[in-house]
Amino acid sequence: MQRLVILAVFLLSFAPRVSEASSLSSRCAKLAAYLGNPRDTAWHAGMNFDEVEELLALTPVKSMQPIQEALGIEAEKGNDGENVQLVTLRGGLKGALRFAEAAEQELFGYRFSRKVQSRIVPPTVKRDFKFAHGLSTTLQLFIPPKEYFHLSSVKRRELFEKMSEQDRFSISALAFVLGHWDLHPGNMVIDEALAPALFDFGDLARVMKVRYGEMAFIPIGETDRVFPENEEFPFDQFEEFETPEDQLDLVMKKVAARFPELSANMLFKIKNRIYSSTRSIKLIHWNSTIWMQRVSGKIVPFSKKYFKKEFKPYQALTRDDVKALAPSFWSERLIDQVIERRDLMSEYYKVP
Ligand SMILES: Nc1ncnc2c1ncn2[C@@H]1O[C@H](COP(=O)(O)OP(=O)(O)O)[C@@H](O)[C@H]1O
Ligand SMILES: [Mg+2]
Repeated sequence: MQRLVILAVFLLSFAPRVSEASSLSSRCAKLAAYLGNPRDTAWHAGMNFDEVEELLALTPVKSMQPIQEALGIEAEKGNDGENVQLVTLRGGLKGALRFAEAAEQELFGYRFSRKVQSRIVPPTVKRDFKFAHGLSTTLQLFIPPKEYFHLSSVKRRELFEKMSEQDRFSISALAFVLGHWDLHPGNMVIDEALAPALFDFGDLARVMKVRYGEMAFIPIGETDRVFPENEEFPFDQFEEFETPEDQLDLVMKKVAARFPELSANMLFKIKNRIYSSTRSIKLIHWNSTIWMQRVSGKIVPFSKKYFKKEFKPYQALTRDDVKALAPSFWSERLIDQVIERRDLMSEYYKVP
């Protein structure tokens, strides 16, 4: 792909710049019209992802606005999207602009999805912006399903219930294997044709304990520390705390009483990780660390049905493949985990 972009830039440097920009913008306009107008085909139907990458990388920018403001929606608690900008390119095509580590992990999520031949993550490219002062920045095709952003999260969840079993399997596999544990209706969209798009890979870089079909347990306050593996993680030995929205402080008092070793800072981190839509959390004390699983308020894509063709590219995946795609700041342990989760999925479906 990179070579393609370099070639495209090289060739275009000979063409008059004006016609170059106008051809890019008319191609953008065509795609924007396809995505924005009523249709009964998936957002990615017939889409040439390489071509969209080229449009995102080269088309001049028209304007930019914080994404929540642009969508006219209230920032969701704990999911404020304040670091994401909605960029409008000439021709009207839109992209989500992310910065720094979030940008690099988004690119990883997309490239990984291409590697396993999935069409669930919207095309994402590296694109430098002067104002970012050298921070990594990526631009990702914005998928604008009509209405979606203004529906309640209950309604959004209902829509996801309707997606095809094959799409459910595709999301399950991609999200689980990558370690995208933060699946809620703000991190996916589903279009009028009930075709889902998955994004926000900003939280992948965590050591986690997870069984396929369940939410992951995340160590509080730890990112990628390596834990001794000589003991099984006690998945079923949790303590559950109900978290009614208006009584979060009370809940935190209970957690503090139960786990007196938790510092104020750790308690603050747990509190921050409880979204308003979460009804309860499960905590496990293991290896001098508190692990938290948010039980509800989530979409847990999980398919009872196994789709052989979809899973085949995952079976072929090697550790080196993952390492080649992963952000440079990823630890070896994080890379191992991707392969381990792939193996867990194979075991679950009894793939020979
Ligand atoms: N490619 C995209 N298509 C459609 N909407 C997007 C896209 N990327 C981001 N968004 C919107 O922007 C919001 C913030 O993006 P996200 O990556 O989830 O950032 P954060 O890390 O702040 O949660 C999302 O909740 C969603 O509404
Ligand atoms: Mg998000």
